[in-house]
Formats: sequence, C-alpha cells, structure tokens
Amino acid sequence: MVFPEYRPRRMRKNEAFRGLIRENRLDPAQFIYPLFVMPGKNKREAIASMPGVFRVSIDQLAQEARECLELGVNSVILFGLPEKKDAMGSGAHAKNGIIQQAIRELKNKVPELMVVTDVCLCEYTDHGHCGCLINNDVDNDATLEILAKTALSHAEAGADIVAPSDMMDGRVAEIRAALDEHGHETVPIMSYAVKYASAFYGPFRDAADCAPQFGDRRGYQMDPANSREALREATLDVDEGADILMVKPAVAYLDIISRLRDEFDLPIAAYHVSGEYAMIKAAAERGWIDGDRVMAETLLSIKRAGADIIITYFAKDMARLLRR
Ligand code: PBG
Ligand code: ZN
Repeated sequence: MVFPEYRPRRMRKNEAFRGLIRENRLDPAQFIYPLFVMPGKNKREAIASMPGVFRVSIDQLAQEARECLELGVNSVILFGLPEKKDAMGSGAHAKNGIIQQAIRELKNKVPELMVVTDVCLCEYTDHGHCGCLINNDVDNDATLEILAKTALSHAEAGADIVAPSDMMDGRVAEIRAALDEHGHETVPIMSYAVKYASAFYGPFRDAADCAPQFGDRRGYQMDPANSREALREATLDVDEGADILMVKPAVAYLDIISRLRDEFDLPIAAYHVSGEYAMIKAAAERGWIDGDRVMAETLLSIKRAGADIIITYFAKDMARLLRR
C-alpha cells in the first residue's frame, strides 16, 4: 500500500486517534525512585548537581515514601551514606547500618511500599571501590562473601528486592545461595547485569560520596564500546539466578536494552542515571529545552527500547505529568 491509498497521517489527526494506536505508554507502577539516606535527624539536604533530589535522614523517609505512593510510584531503591567507612566496607552489612535501619523504618511505617536495595560496597569503603582490595585492585572472590552478607542483611531487615551493582563475577550465584540458605528464597535479585564504566554517574558519586579515591572502575564495570559482551554478562546472571536484568545507564545504551529484550524473557530494568537526569535539568533551567517534554520523551524512549522497569530520579515528576 503506497500513497495515496495509504496515508499515515489519517491516524494522527488528533489525540483520540493517536491515543488509540499508541504502542508504548509510561506507567508510574513501573518506576523505581532512588532515595539517598543519611545519618542524623530532620535532615533534608539538596544535592547541587541533581536539582530536586535530596539526601534525607531516616525520620524523613516515611514522608518521602507516602509522596511516592500517592503518585502511584510504588517502589524505591535505597542508597546509604554511612557514619563511617573502612577498607572492607563493613558498614554495608552492619545490623544497625544506615540501610538496614532505613528498610526497617519504611517497612514499619509504610508497609505497602516496595523497598529495593542497592547492594554494593563503594559507599562503605574508605577507598571508594566496589569491593575489598588486594594489590590495589578489587579482590573479586573475597568481595563475594561481603556482598552476600550485605544482601542477606537487607533481606533480614525486610527488603523486597536486592539489586547488586558491584559488577563482581559470580555475585548473583553467591547472593542467591546466601538468601536461600537463610530462608529468603522468595526475595528476588534484580541484577545490574550490564553496567558500563560511565561518566554519566558523576552527580551520583557526589550525592552518595562514593567516588574511587584512586584509579577508576574500568577493571570491573563494562567497556562502553561493547555490546556482544552485554549478552554474555546477562547470560551469566540468568544462569546464576537473576530475576530481573538491568541495563545502566539507559539513554546512551538503548541498543543494549533492545538487544536484551530480544534475547531474554526476564523482565528488563533500565537505570536512567544521575548524569542523564542532570543534563536535562540543566538545559531546562537555562530555558534551552522544554524540561517536561524532554523528560517524557526520554523515559518513553527507554520504554520503547524494551525496558519494563525504569529507575529514575524523574519518577515523581513524570507521575505528576501523567496525571495532568
Ligand atoms: C554503586 C552505584 C552507582 C550508581 C548506582 N549504584 C555508582 C557507580 O557505580 O559508580 C550510579 C547511579 C547514578 O548515577 O544515578 N555501585
Ligand atoms: Zn559500587
């Protein structure tokens, strides 16, 4: 069928036509909103490079959670700023650690909220790497045990999903085994399966105070040049027992999301990361782009590429926009 028999514009006449044939829609129930938890009382600190995002103390969490729920955003992912750090990142699995307290507070006060936890050591190590060190390099196998302990401590505190972001080899299997061994076989693992060594994490590292003190993360996070390797990483995590596969960052890696969508039948999550958020906010503040429209178009592109779940600092803003 060619012009003039077929006229695509027939179906674009107005919003009713467009709505009828729309292929993808955003749903706040599939957003996960990141929360940064800090020590102290009555704290709500703005993060300069992430306008609209705050670090909050534990007493503020329930309020944050209720705001999400009212907007139809049912899930949050927690990041912690511990009181102190050490070489082994032991604060990550402390029974009374910042995240363990935050989980208990949320599960106590707002039980219907889905609490996802980021499992990594970089916020808890004094050197800022995602595992413990040997000869100035991250010791993969020694780190696995600490990660498993951390995931287990989150599950014991009541986490609904654990999400390892460290990029150590074999961590999904190790975490799955630890959870199963201790009666947490119903807690799913959302694996940061395909996580690139990206400059888009810049604002997050300020927010969570987790920049590496020497070197970088290229020895464990993926090379941005590679896409076949993404399939190998994802296959490993599926075989080790992952329940959800994540791609991170999102917009610069839409091809990877799409490839994973085609190759795997597990739910796919995409992390629209801090730098991706900050760029839109900065340009919008200058009046160079329409912030709301660029936000909506960006999140929709992630959906269209094949993501089911979107982790985004825009979760509340987008939910509000969808309401209008
Ligand atoms: C911790 C972690 C990072 C992010 C999520 N978990 C930082 C990093 O790997 O350096 C980035 C999130 C963002 O930029 O929004 N490993
Ligand atoms: Zn890390």
